[in-house]
Amino acid sequence: MIDQQLKDVIRDVPDFPKPGIVFKDITPILKNIHLCQRILEAFMDRLQPDTIDVVAGIESRGFLFGLWLAQELGKPFVPIRKQGKLPYHTVAQAYTLEYGEAIIEIHEDAFKRGARVLIHDDLLATGGTVIAASELIQKLGGSIAGYAFVVSLDFLEGKKKLADYSQQIVSLIA
Ligand code: PRP
Ligand code: ADE
Repeated sequence: MIDQQLKDVIRDVPDFPKPGIVFKDITPILKNIHLCQRILEAFMDRLQPDTIDVVAGIESRGFLFGLWLAQELGKPFVPIRKQGKLPYHTVAQAYTLEYGEAIIEIHEDAFKRGARVLIHDDLLATGGTVIAASELIQKLGGSIAGYAFVVSLDFLEGKKKLADYSQQIVSLIA
């Protein structure tokens, strides 16, 4: 099963990036191209492609599978980046995540008004990051088609906060 294969390779790093945080290091997944392909297949099995117009991935780990997922779905990819990285006109949103605070941005012309946007990230913790991404998408007149994560840390209850935005929430392991 994909969930057990992922659990076997994702590495827990205690006290990173600050004391008390157990960091889920997904980089070992990337060494196994077959497992990467299985992740894409698992997303495709679980998502409803006809509900999605655009895939948005969140810097930086959300880029690893985000563009690849968009290509599998045959949809455009939109990067959501940390403040100061996108060169054109942007809209911005501040947020709090499990171990800090940040601001993310999206290009104001990233997609057409009314687009249904799937948000992808490697990991859901408190949900602060993807809620900020959801607010950005709504500011541009888009709606949230759903969320796709490799990992969800369900004890942090991020998923509960996403239900107001979309019912399509896919995570390969919790
Ligand atoms: C990590 C992860 C998610 C976010 C989840 O990103 O990739 O984007 O934290 O946390 P939350 O659910 O509590 O908001 P990080 O900001 O560390 O950036 P990175 O992808 O560049 O490592
Ligand atoms: N992003 C937020 N919390 C995280 C965690 N515990 N491990 C990896 N990435 C994270």
